[in-house]
Amino acid sequence: MTDRSGTSATAAGGFGTSGVTGPARVANAARTAVVWDALSQLLARLSDGEPLEIVDAGGGTGGAAVPLAELGHRVTVVEPSPDSLAALERRAAESGVAVRGVQGETRDLASLFPADSADLVLVHNVLEYVDEPAAALADVAGITRPGGAVSLLVTNAVAGALHRALAGHVTEAQHLLSDPDGRWGEADPMPRRLTRQQLLDLINHSGLTGESVRGVRVFADVLPGHAWEGDAQAGQHLVELEKAAADHPELIGIATQLHAVAFKS
Ligand SMILES: C[S@@+](CC[C@H](N)C(=O)[O-])C[C@H]1O[C@@H](n2cnc3c(N)ncnc32)[C@H](O)[C@@H]1O
Repeated sequence: MTDRSGTSATAAGGFGTSGVTGPARVANAARTAVVWDALSQLLARLSDGEPLEIVDAGGGTGGAAVPLAELGHRVTVVEPSPDSLAALERRAAESGVAVRGVQGETRDLASLFPADSADLVLVHNVLEYVDEPAAALADVAGITRPGGAVSLLVTNAVAGALHRALAGHVTEAQHLLSDPDGRWGEADPMPRRLTRQQLLDLINHSGLTGESVRGVRVFADVLPGHAWEGDAQAGQHLVELEKAAADHPELIGIATQLHAVAFKS
């Protein structure tokens, strides 16, 4: 709770692991370790020891917001789904922390928060769903204070094609590669996936300064589950492998997700 370096939450397995045990917990740790490490470093960089003002745009049920609140920060989740907000409330209560939940969308951010007010804004797995990603990111940048940061997590279109082919849907994988929205077809439930270049372009056009993009879930989603089942040490090795792969210039290309931290100057 008081350790704002993020160490406690990392030890607890990172985002959204409460109630998760055994192999599922190991798999979750391998999938979240890279993002949580980056956030831990970011929190240390942004905080002078005082709690940070954090907005989680499209924060869902609080998988990131609650661990951040557990570290002592003031977190507001802006989320359109009432069901998710109710689940967030339950999750926060179970963890004994306060997280403010507000029903709204990224387009509402300017009316919900003063301009230049948030130390950190999370936009995790949300740009895939908004009507206009560029407008959404501009709204996010508008409430971020100068010197503050935006944490962006998006679904990688290239990995989407890989996973579709691995599932046996080869023609859909090919369709995805040439689709401007990174979708494998009309029935694809995901409205959009982004390439690394599309993410960088969005960051640059929003006026934020992008740092390097890191790859998340390079191995965890393609290795068979039995690779770490019942073997805590193998699971820890997988976490370390994910951390090593996150900055690998070639492996980033096949990461399931892309994570970027961008700053407002
Ligand atoms: C895949 S979930 C991600 C939830 C959470 N950020 C996470 O990483 O676990 C996508 C979330 O975006 C929300 N969302 C969809 N459209 C949105 C919009 N225009 N503005 C803000 N959030 C939106 C959804 O309700 C949903 O909670």
